[in-house]
Amino acid sequence: MPSRHDPVCPHTPRMLHGGDYNPDQWVATPEVWEDDARLMAEANCNTVSLGIFAWVALEPREGQFDFSWMDRVFEILEKNRTVVNLATPGGAKPAWMAQRYPETLRVDRFRRRQLWGGRHNHCFTSPVFRDKCRIINTELAERYGSYPYFGVWHVNNEYSGECHCDLCQAAFRDWLKQRYDHDLEKLNHAWWSRFWSHTITDWDHIESPSPIGEMGVHGLTIDWHRFCTHQTIECFNAESAPLRELTPNLPVTTNFMTAYSGIDYAAISRGLDVICWDSYPSYHDRDGDADLAMNISFIHEQRRAMLNKPFLLMECSPSVQNYKPFCKLKRPGVHILEGLQAVAHGADSVLYFQWRKGRGGFEKFHGAVVDHFPTTETRVFQEVKKLGEILGKLDGVVGTMPDVEVGLIYDYENYWAIDTMSGPRNVDKHYIETCYEHYRPFWNAGVPVDVIDTALPFDKYKLLIAPMLYMVKPGVAEKLEAYVRGGGTLVTTYMTGLVNETDLCFQNGFPGPLRELCGVWAEETDVPYDDEAVRVEPVAGNALGLSEPYEAGGYCDLLHCDTAEALATYAGEFYRGMPALTVNRVGAGTVYYVGSRNDRAFQSAFFSRLIGDLGLQRTLGDVALPPRVTATWRGDGEKTFVFVLSFNRDDTTLDLGDRSYVDVLTREPIGGKVTLPGYGHLILESA
Ligand code: GAL
Ligand code: ZN
Repeated sequence: MPSRHDPVCPHTPRMLHGGDYNPDQWVATPEVWEDDARLMAEANCNTVSLGIFAWVALEPREGQFDFSWMDRVFEILEKNRTVVNLATPGGAKPAWMAQRYPETLRVDRFRRRQLWGGRHNHCFTSPVFRDKCRIINTELAERYGSYPYFGVWHVNNEYSGECHCDLCQAAFRDWLKQRYDHDLEKLNHAWWSRFWSHTITDWDHIESPSPIGEMGVHGLTIDWHRFCTHQTIECFNAESAPLRELTPNLPVTTNFMTAYSGIDYAAISRGLDVICWDSYPSYHDRDGDADLAMNISFIHEQRRAMLNKPFLLMECSPSVQNYKPFCKLKRPGVHILEGLQAVAHGADSVLYFQWRKGRGGFEKFHGAVVDHFPTTETRVFQEVKKLGEILGKLDGVVGTMPDVEVGLIYDYENYWAIDTMSGPRNVDKHYIETCYEHYRPFWNAGVPVDVIDTALPFDKYKLLIAPMLYMVKPGVAEKLEAYVRGGGTLVTTYMTGLVNETDLCFQNGFPGPLRELCGVWAEETDVPYDDEAVRVEPVAGNALGLSEPYEAGGYCDLLHCDTAEALATYAGEFYRGMPALTVNRVGAGTVYYVGSRNDRAFQSAFFSRLIGDLGLQRTLGDVALPPRVTATWRGDGEKTFVFVLSFNRDDTTLDLGDRSYVDVLTREPIGGKVTLPGYGHLILESA
């Protein structure tokens, strides 16, 4: 059973509610700050994230600081005991820095130095940039580190991207020298660089990937991604060093984006005290709310699993975004639902971008709690206030976790490798979508899942799913084998076990180092168009009891069984009769190899069967969840909190049967048939 984690803020052991606060845009009208404090109290907000883009307001000229406005803001916030997540301002640099130190500006893949402007665009190697961060961050830590309601250090903002300047090239070469023991032979072998005469004979020949240079050496591209991750971590470490030194007891974090895969978030997560992320789904678009909600749940599950503890929802919009093709209004109830969805999966906060709309600038029409007409009478304000009220009843949920029996591998390095690979298909390779599709049956059944990378432990799971594990890094095959031999059940798929960590193909028949474990040899992979259905038929009397034929498209492995047994075979194409789904028993465990990209009917039948066979705990036991409704839970070993979330537009009936709960919001007992309104939620407690 899970135990309770300490709250992120010991002084405020409550759900944090509030968000990005930019009083620096209102320095000329400080009465707005007083108004903000009043409105925050009225909206049941207890937290702000302050100063994210305030560098120029804090340091208008190099070395000349002005903290007067921020001092005043802190004074006002302290009166309401407002938790302050204080940001370091590295997300947007002031013009004076760019002018005096152009090396802090990024150089793009075409080797063009960028002009000053925008944000999130510093050179992550530049010693000047790091030093300027160190100076201002030191000032901030010294001045505000003892604020009694300090939340977390919010370092920089949404790290992303890459820089190709000379400093970065030199750092990349140094990083490669370390990685390949100063041995060019090793590097050339790893990159298979005799191909097209790409052999490197001098470290200075090496350049980062570029559309006007090298894009075809996949080992180079993957190493470049690794370097960018490394350099981001170095930059983060430099920015956080003064915080760690001066305020060692305060948690340090940086905010992640949704499914951004340019840098390895898993690697970055290991240096954070708490994970936080920014979620911006576009509800009511043509893809359907439930599909989108399922994808968002997947990311939440990943963020919780990263450090195996509660995380923070650092940003979401209380209403719309301003940069999507259509910025549709969230339907009534959806905002509350979205916030509770985060909490359901392990968030101990619902924080927004943004508290108040600025009068000008790119984000003046981005949703905010307080609109241009700053009244409390808006639909958005009222819904935020209502959510605050609900969160106020969830103190008991803070710090709790679910017991998770299913692990699903989504690995960033594997993503890069698949993305970079040339063949067997070069459009819509569907790696993350495939991971989503393997998560869907669990979302539908109300079974929590940890979304993990290959570096995290596997042994706590009863079921481990590794879709499209194209790259098998050193140690991973051994770890998977130990997991299976110890009694685990592993599901893997087509496009698995093709290359090593530098994209060199395995030579013993795919799935390479997993071949013995899977008991199959994937001789070739066909790629029918996604909608070009290849029929697959279960083998009569198969061990899983699969009875219905299903359709495959997109990827079809041409498999041979070594030691595995076929559970289903292709019934179409020239590979008719070849195995399409197999099972192999190894030690005390079982391995399923899914040879084709299958329809939802298969996903549902196959995983429902595994959920049953492995006795995986469903949040609401055998209560049937209606379509587009999910349920998940958190607990501390004594109390269990169940969240039932409906992504249906209309009312849905749910039969809780004889399970009896207390409705957390009304404290009334609840059971039997209940009606969930459109976009409605239920928060239940069972002792
Ligand atoms: C985030 C960013 C915020 C704000 C928001 C708008 O990615 O961190 O500063 O721009 O998007 O949705
Ligand atoms: Zn650079």
